[in-house]
Amino acid sequence: MDYPHKKATTNLPVIEPILERWSPLAFDPKPVEEEKILTMFEAARWAPSSYNEQPWRFIYAQKGDKNREVLESLLAEGNSWAKNAGVLVISFAHKTFELNGHPNHHYLHDLGAASAYLVAQLPSLGLVGHQMSGYDAESANEVLGVPPDYGPGSMIAVGYYAGQDGIDAGMKEREDAPRVRKDLHDIVFNGEWKASR
Ligand SMILES: Cc1cc2nc3c(=O)[nH]c(=O)nc-3n(C[C@H](O)[C@H](O)[C@H](O)COP(=O)(O)O)c2cc1C
Repeated sequence: MDYPHKKATTNLPVIEPILERWSPLAFDPKPVEEEKILTMFEAARWAPSSYNEQPWRFIYAQKGDKNREVLESLLAEGNSWAKNAGVLVISFAHKTFELNGHPNHHYLHDLGAASAYLVAQLPSLGLVGHQMSGYDAESANEVLGVPPDYGPGSMIAVGYYAGQDGIDAGMKEREDAPRVRKDLHDIVFNGEWKASR
């Protein structure tokens, strides 16, 4: 199916990938082409980072891949819809600088930037993505052999949109809900901090 347009309704015109990206629940289990998978990681790779440290790391698994079932088993019950996603990604970031071992206080900031680049690439590939904090991050590091100086980021379901046929009423209600954001003047202040309403 074509890219599902649950487009953002912005007050000012913004670039197309931002308009088009959204977080659906209904994933089609069909596999995602390897080149598309690599392309989304290529986008993440080009995110900016403090001292160009590039602290982000990603593990991914399609259905049938090593540890795919392990990743599925880490999902919180409320995120079990993500088991249908063609690709499950789990992200980590290096908490210390490679050069000197000093703490990198921006490791999660930079991982967030890379994740945002990754999901922003998806619409042009005809894919959808949904980031999740609802998974067992502690066990993820353990079972996937992640070194202790890498902190967990998120799990990201990536794949083809299934459309709304066959999804249960609860999921449909969530998918139909309007996409909302805080007002610009509640998050952006000119010159000094202002309490929001
Ligand atoms: C770090 C992070 C964690 C999230 N965790 C979950 C989650 O566990 N389950 C879920 O259904 N959605 C999760 N979301 C999705 C958000 O609810 C969603 O991005 C937000 O409602 C805005 O909707 P949109 O992405 O369609 O614009 C998460 C998003 C982010 C960025």
